[in-house]
Amino acid sequence: MNVLIIGSGGREHCLAWKVSQSSLVKKIFSIPGNPGIKQIGSCFNLEVKKENFKLIKDFALQNNIDFTIVGPEAPLVDGIVDYFNNFGLKIFGPDSNAARIEGSKVFTKNLCKKYNIPTAESVIFFREEIDKIKNYINKLSEKRFPLVLKVDGLAAGKGVIICKNKQEALDGLNDCFEKNIFGSAADKIIIEDFIEGFEVSILNLCDGKDIIPMVLAQDYKKIFDNDIGKNTGGMGSFSPVPFVSDKLYEKILNLIIYPTFEALKKENIYYKGILYGGIIISNDEPYLLEYNCRFGDPETQVILPRLEDDLVELLLSCINGKLANQKLHWDNLKCVCVVIASKGYPESSSKGDLIEGLDKINSQSYNFKNKNFNEFSDLNNDIKINSFLAENKKNNVLIFHAGTKFENQKYYTNGGRVLNLVSKAPTFKDARKNIYSEILKINFEGMQYRKDIALKAELFEDSVSF
Ligand code: GLY
Repeated sequence: MNVLIIGSGGREHCLAWKVSQSSLVKKIFSIPGNPGIKQIGSCFNLEVKKENFKLIKDFALQNNIDFTIVGPEAPLVDGIVDYFNNFGLKIFGPDSNAARIEGSKVFTKNLCKKYNIPTAESVIFFREEIDKIKNYINKLSEKRFPLVLKVDGLAAGKGVIICKNKQEALDGLNDCFEKNIFGSAADKIIIEDFIEGFEVSILNLCDGKDIIPMVLAQDYKKIFDNDIGKNTGGMGSFSPVPFVSDKLYEKILNLIIYPTFEALKKENIYYKGILYGGIIISNDEPYLLEYNCRFGDPETQVILPRLEDDLVELLLSCINGKLANQKLHWDNLKCVCVVIASKGYPESSSKGDLIEGLDKINSQSYNFKNKNFNEFSDLNNDIKINSFLAENKKNNVLIFHAGTKFENQKYYTNGGRVLNLVSKAPTFKDARKNIYSEILKINFEGMQYRKDIALKAELFEDSVSF
């Protein structure tokens, strides 16, 4: 079958890589894709926005696409699944009604309240109530802080503000209502208690009736080592999360994930796609921070390499209501992803800086089962310089492209998060060593990456092995 992948980041390159291993798949397409995906498929440069749904659908029809997989949240919230379904096209992800789980934090907060799903205590306000909100903040004692201010709608990962004191809360309100930096996403806001703890991500496959949880991952949101600095889209990730016991994992499922899926059904929402729970663990108790309606980025890059099953078969089971017949199989290896970002990220991002050294990386081969790699690619063989060969070479890593551009036979930066280096090994120590030795071969102006990704997993591993 022909598969279309919507999106352009490291997550989508990883999806394309995993999809390429499916025995069901003949050809991969992507809109808009990226130079990494171009090494295994055909990319069509079209902005993924609601106004272009018709063009995307036309592309799918013209190219005999059998199955479309959506990466980012915005098209899901905007109804791309509803749109494709109207034309009888198979597409993976929740419809717009179900995607409210990410598209409206107020919707999710109300669902949690109604069905007793553990989450931070909160109050909800409307934009029109600005005086009431200021009054509410002003009356709070400073001891009530930190508090968290969240805008209701999608805000490209920037709509959660941790306010350490009253003034920061008032500044946050100013951003929402005076400067209007979130637009209509801030028509409703939530003010909630700050929960101290550590976060884990749990992605679940859903077919409307059944749900299958995947392995846990943890991501790193802050730009600098030791979780210092501004929030980013994610600077790295690892899986499994060794310091979450089986008992705690079961608790996450039984207190949060399964009750949410059942609650959705009771609300006549038959969720199909990935239900991604962002969970915070505080004193060994899990609380829901947020839901996302899609694969996580960069969690996907450490989860899919560990999955031994055919991803396309699984995703098709989700949309066909056949998940009950499926069982997931995971390898026992430790997987780490380090994100390389461009100069100025996350405040800004630099474009057009020459990326050197990709051809020197010991990278893994695509595991094409009886397939001719060349027939997939938009690129000539001689310019597939950095991808995936020498599976039995030591120190090998996977390279996923996120914000790159390919011009005149060279790669350049083209966004905030530029590349992901992923490695899988028997220990976190080895996986980290593989990445951090290879990453030194890559160079571009202002390149930045965290040096402590998965360090806590490695230290935990060390502490239990003695
Ligand atoms: N890793 C955070 C996200 O995908 O939203």
